[in-house]
Formats: sequence, structure tokens, C-alpha cells
Amino acid sequence: MKKSGSATDSLWYKDAVIYELHVRAFQDSNGDGIGDFPGLISRLDYLQDLGVTCLWLLPFFPSPLRDDGYDIANYTDVNPSYGSLDDFKRFLAAAHQRNMQVLIELVINHTSDQHPWFKASRLAPPGSPERNFYVWSHTDQLYKSVPIIFSDTEKSNWTWDETAGAYYWHRFFSHQPDLNFDNPAVFEEVLKAMRFWLDLGVDGFRLDAIPYLIERDGTTCDNLPETHAIIKRIRAAIDEGYSNRFLLAEANTWPTDVRPYFGNGDECHMAFHFPLMPRIYMALRQEDRMPITEIMAQTPPIPDCCQWGLFLRNHDELTLEMVTSDERDYMYFAYSADPRMRINVGIRRRLAPLVDNNRRRIELLNSLLFSFPGTPILYYGDEIGMGDNIYLGDRNGVRTPMQWNPDRNAGFSTAVPSRLYFPVIMDPTFGYQAVNVETQLSEPSSLLHWTRNMIALRKLFHVFGRGTLEFLSPENRKVLAYIRHYDPHSDSREQTEAARVRDVTSPGNETVLCVANLSRFAQPVSLDLSEFAGMQPVEMLGYVPFPIITSQPYPLTLAPYSFFWLELQGAPEARQE
Ligand code: NOJ
Ligand code: CA
Repeated sequence: MKKSGSATDSLWYKDAVIYELHVRAFQDSNGDGIGDFPGLISRLDYLQDLGVTCLWLLPFFPSPLRDDGYDIANYTDVNPSYGSLDDFKRFLAAAHQRNMQVLIELVINHTSDQHPWFKASRLAPPGSPERNFYVWSHTDQLYKSVPIIFSDTEKSNWTWDETAGAYYWHRFFSHQPDLNFDNPAVFEEVLKAMRFWLDLGVDGFRLDAIPYLIERDGTTCDNLPETHAIIKRIRAAIDEGYSNRFLLAEANTWPTDVRPYFGNGDECHMAFHFPLMPRIYMALRQEDRMPITEIMAQTPPIPDCCQWGLFLRNHDELTLEMVTSDERDYMYFAYSADPRMRINVGIRRRLAPLVDNNRRRIELLNSLLFSFPGTPILYYGDEIGMGDNIYLGDRNGVRTPMQWNPDRNAGFSTAVPSRLYFPVIMDPTFGYQAVNVETQLSEPSSLLHWTRNMIALRKLFHVFGRGTLEFLSPENRKVLAYIRHYDPHSDSREQTEAARVRDVTSPGNETVLCVANLSRFAQPVSLDLSEFAGMQPVEMLGYVPFPIITSQPYPLTLAPYSFFWLELQGAPEARQE
């Protein structure tokens, strides 16, 4: 008997709205200045009310926290600062009770150097089983063509270990040695950790840094076939023992290189669409839809059971690895005036400050996030337009405490302010007195209410999570217009191939026209909708009928940074040949 996850539909992740949060940052229950599981439980009503359906928890395992918990010292326990394993179980049950799924991290490329495996490995003789848990070498000249990811901190992917008398390999910080996946014992341990959490009932794993599992000299060590073979075995172990769970690949690479992480539907269920994200910001700044349409044209179809994970911001820097060097210069110039806003190959800022706290731009970007093909992922605090603190080190400026109300420590903690794990945001624009949940709940026109409405609206339709996408090509390039279509009777692959011959009349099908003005000025646009002549567009936020479509160009006028979601209702007229 397979152990089922909490969802009832095996494709549930396609309709999900994911909310990414750090336990540490969300709510402190015992006044020690650190968020914890009891605190998170007390805020589940808020998340349920917001309408998100899946909670992605950043790493909460025992860790020296030199990489915010991505440096794991024990895979099967909870960091005592955040509570106990029983607290986690209570949280999981409480989330499931509210029909929210839970996604956690499986960070298997590396451990902390404080993990008992590494402590044993550096002491053990070369060739011993303990030593073979990690990637050791007598020379640092191997794998020379592998780039350094944390380029601001690390000079090499090899570090000399005095105790072992050898170099060890690390794709990230030098305190994060890479596990050796050529050793079958490592894989067995990973499976044990995975089953531990699956048995408790977690609904999915984000596979951190998954392209880097295997090293081979003369390659970039990214996306190697041997790495894919390991992911397939991880997936097979899940499919064998469990149902309604999912794997989300963190593979920061081009769409054609991400495509293999879906396999033939036998690797990951989901993968982040990394290259789309910076291009959304570029399109906005350049007031030109090209960066978006171009990258989507390069995005290959994926198996029917698979899904893209879409995001505007997350806990890391806004990564610029997947753009050309000209585009990178442009992004740095446009979005990080102060060099402090930059880190590694990216920009460490939150959504609201990135767009100068311009409400219309925030809404426009969210409208794309919620209407593009894939599952949207919101980063905690962005639903209220939280700011960042570029004076904190590393990427910590976007990891400050959630702002609940205007009281002490933003209602996050009763600790003395100096005891908080990070200070709350206090500047006049984004400080907790100005930006917080309580105030926004009391203002019907707040960003929080707007976000809640958008989530609720999206959830009424399957088309956003499951439908096809087709761009229109109006002359005015400041306008991005696209048709989303979903026919529950054919799978999405067939729909992609047959986008042009869609049957908009078949029962249960949904057709939505999305139009977005990327410009700071009002724009006219004229759309060729002749295929839908006779149908009635209905504006979805207000349920407002628009003029019936004819075979003539369909004119629309858009206010600065505005967008329309129009459901096309009724049936098209019979075409006259
Ligand atoms: C990717 C995570 O998103 C990032 O926060 C972390 O630093 C690296 N993996 C290394 O674990
Ligand atoms: Ca606490």
C-alpha cells in the first residue's frame, strides 16, 4: 500500500499557489527573538485566509546557520531554535487540516562541515567508507572548468583540509562539502532521510542545487547524465512507496537544459523557470514585451504531469546567471543603483523596493506571475510589499522578520529588539509602522486585499495552472497579450501542439485573454481576435462585460502598467470562408 500525501488529486501541484517562508522569520512564540513552529502554527489562519494552498518551508534542520540552514548538520531533526520534531508534526497536521500542502527542502548536494559524516570523513583514512562520503582529492587541479557560484566569497571549489591532508570539493561555501554520489552508501542515506519526512506526511521536496550531484573531469559538472540517473532513482523510490507527493527541481539553467529534469515524467514533477524571471523585470523596465516572448519561445513543451514553478522573488539574490552579459549590465544599472544591492551574480532586493514601491508595477508583475503557465510561488512579505535591508550581510536583507502589526518588533516577537535574529525593517517607507498585515487587513484597497482577491480568482479557473499559452502579436510592443486555453478533455501536450485548432466550445473548457501594458504611459492596442468572433469578453476581476468580439481588430486602451484578464464566453460564430 502506498502512503498517500494530504492532497487528493495526483496533479494537485499544477493548481497550487505556493507560499515560501522561513520558520525563523515568520512568528516567534517564546520571546527568544527567533521564529518557531508554534509561532508558525499560530499564523496558519492568516495563510489560509490569504488563499495560498502550499507552504514551502526553507531549511529548518539542525545547522550552524552559515548559509541560512542550507548547511545541514542532521537531515532528520528540527533545529531546536525552531522547536521540536513534535512541533513540526503538529504544524504539518494543522496545515493539512486547513487543506494546505507542505513542501520542504531536500538539500543533498552538500552538508555542513559540522555534519557527523564530514567530521568522520576528514578523520578517516583515504579509501575508507567514511572518507568516501565526500569528494576528496590530493590536487585542486581537477574539474577546472567548473564555475564558482558564490563568487563574492569563494576563490576555488576546492578547499584544503589539514586534518584529512587532502582537498575537498564544494560547489557553494567552503563550509559546505559536496557529498559523493558515486558512493552508493550516500544515495542510501539520502533515501533514508527522504523517507523519514515522507512517512511523516510532507507533500513534496524542493531539490536544492540538483544539477551538481556528480563530478566528471573535463565537464562543467552540471546536468550530467549520471546526475539525471540519480534523480530518476529518487523519483522511483517515491513512486514506489508514496502517492500525491512531488519533486521541485532547483536547476538555475536555460529552459532546454531544465527540460531533462522532467525526464519522461519520471524525474521531477516541477522545475523553477529561472530565465523567465529576470526577463519579466527587463520587459517592464524596457517597456517592451520581447524579453518575455523570446524566452517563452525557447521554452520547450514538458510532459503532461509536469509543471513550471514561477516566481518574482525568493530568499536568494535575483539571479542574473541566465541572461547575456549585456542584459546583466542593463539589469544592474536599472535595478541596483547602489553597489550594496548586488551580490554574487545578482541583486539582493525584495519585490516592492525593486519597482520603487510602485503599486501599479507590483500588481502588473503579479498579474503575470498569476496568469503565466505554471504554479505561482509567492515570497513571504511580498503580499504586503515588505522592504529589504541592504546593510545586512549575504542575502539576509530579504530575510527580515514578517511585519504583522505596528507594535514592538512588528508583532513578530516580544523579545527586546536587540535580541531578534535580524532587525525588523524600520525605514519610513517600508518600516513596520507603515507596512504590516494588521493595517492592510483594515484597508480594503491594500496590496494584501488585492493579492488575496487575485489568488481567489485564479483558483476559480483551471486554465492558469493547466492551460496552453499563445502570444498575440499586436503592433504595439509595449503591450503583452496572450491567450490561455484549457480543455479538460485533452492533455496539455496535445493542446500545445493543437493550440491553433482549440475547440473553445467543448464543455468545461476555459479561454482567457490576458493583456498587460508594460509602459508607464497609457497605451492603445489593437488585437486580432477574429478566431473568437462572436464571443463575449468578460473582465474577470469585476465581472464586467466588454464589447463582443468581431472579425475586425479588437481595440483596447490600457492605463499605465494596467492589465486585463478577460474570460471569453459563449461560442464563436461559424467562420465564413
Ligand atoms: C540554493 C539556495 O537557494 C541558496 O539559498 C543556498 O545558499 C544554496 N542553494 C546552497 O545551498
Ligand atoms: Ca522562538
